[in-house]
Amino acid sequence: MGRPRIVVLISGTGSNLQAVVDACAAGHIGADVVGVVSNDSDAYGLVRADAAGIDTRLVVAHADESRQAYDTRLADAVASFDPDWVLLAGWMRLLTMAFLDRFTGVVVNLHPALPGELPGTRSIERAWAEALAGDRSSSGVMVHLVPDEGVDDGPTLGSRVVPVDTSGTLEQFATDVHDAEHALLVEVLASLCAPTTTDQEGPPT
Ligand code: GRF
Repeated sequence: MGRPRIVVLISGTGSNLQAVVDACAAGHIGADVVGVVSNDSDAYGLVRADAAGIDTRLVVAHADESRQAYDTRLADAVASFDPDWVLLAGWMRLLTMAFLDRFTGVVVNLHPALPGELPGTRSIERAWAEALAGDRSSSGVMVHLVPDEGVDDGPTLGSRVVPVDTSGTLEQFATDVHDAEHALLVEVLASLCAPTTTDQEGPPT
């Protein structure tokens, strides 16, 4: 049995993809990123994948294409890499069961907020605004499974609190959040991909 195979879905910068690729190369994650799939041809993460020698696929939505039809094409592209884990890292489309039913129990999402808080987009900016209003003093990041079409609300695999320092800037808070994302993502994937006793080669001792 080879090392676990991770396929990463991206829509933009790919800083989380880079963190995972670097951690696999350094041996911090006992797995390999075998494919990167994006919905956006401008995603810089595709450049990062190319630089790392990782195969990429581009799946761009067609005009008037249903979400289910798109997700079926997307699932076909992801399945072509034979993944053990499917990581949504800076992926900006909600996935339907047309995709999720193809990868039961192995789709993992990263979200820059704590479990149960600030689902959806712009959660960093919303946490900042709430802190300025005195409604919170911290936010955080989480990694969770994606069993269904719920938005950022699947079973939590890990989370980290990130303080909001309103004496600083939104840019610094966003940097703190992204740093926490990179660290948490590596930590969770290292755990998910760690060899289990049933994976060990050879007879039981
Ligand atoms: C991250 O905060 C991610 O959680 C969100 O998009 C941001 C950029 O991610 N979905 P990346 O740099 O593209 O990995």
